[in-house]
Amino acid sequence: MAESTATAETLAGRILGAMDGPEIARGADEAMRRCKDLGFESDWDAVPEKMTAFHRVILAAAAVLPPGGSVETGVFRGGTSGPLILADPPESFHIGIDPFGFPSQSYADLADAYGQWQEARRTMAKLSAVGAQQNVTYCHYTMAASRFIQADLLEPIVDVRTVHLDGDHGEDAVVEELAYFRRKLARPVLFVLDDHDDTYPGVEAGMRRAGAGMARVFHRHYAYPGFPTPLGFSAWVHAP
Ligand SMILES: C[S@@+](CC[C@H](N)C(=O)[O-])C[C@H]1O[C@@H](n2cnc3c(N)ncnc32)[C@H](O)[C@@H]1O
Repeated sequence: MAESTATAETLAGRILGAMDGPEIARGADEAMRRCKDLGFESDWDAVPEKMTAFHRVILAAAAVLPPGGSVETGVFRGGTSGPLILADPPESFHIGIDPFGFPSQSYADLADAYGQWQEARRTMAKLSAVGAQQNVTYCHYTMAASRFIQADLLEPIVDVRTVHLDGDHGEDAVVEELAYFRRKLARPVLFVLDDHDDTYPGVEAGMRRAGAGMARVFHRHYAYPGFPTPLGFSAWVHAP
């Protein structure tokens, strides 16, 4: 086994173990309360155990991995950006990438929902305010992740601990995002892949092509109210 893979597996095991610690559990409950008070919404609010796992894994990563900020592709109403900013250390950056209503939007069928600019403005204002409270610099890029990547917009000065991929779940998009952020981030990083399930097979296919050497923290599935098949997400450590 390559040394980097062994390191990734050790870190993944430590993050998984830390998720059940009382301090992380308390911190996750507190962060969930704050996000609710601030009005951040996620499609996953219907599955509280999934939201709990998301909060816990990013806080566990904060306890195990070296300090750094976060990147998210797919922001919508800030339901996962808020938690990421709350888990970021002071003087780090949170980068949100989402085209909202621009034509580069990958979900033609949801363009109306994602193109509500009043909602987008409100979300960005709230994220900015939380960032200011936390001493985290919030930067939003209103564009498809592919455009961000092709323009190579991640500044080398930005030290990133967590990457949440929740934008375009097509195989090629997942490969492009994983390959880019892994190449740019020469340090241990937690990657969280949303919608890693049979509804979005591109996530698994993309992981198979661009996830070599990453160590799994978990891959979990949940019954989603009104949805016929389980929906899931996964968390991985990249340690070059
Ligand atoms: C499921 S929502 C994100 C939800 C959010 N992460 C949460 O859990 O609350 C998906 C978002 O991806 C955005 N999106 C669509 N195409 C994208 C792309 N090519 N790159 C980045 N984001 C994209 C949409 O505008 C939408 O806001």
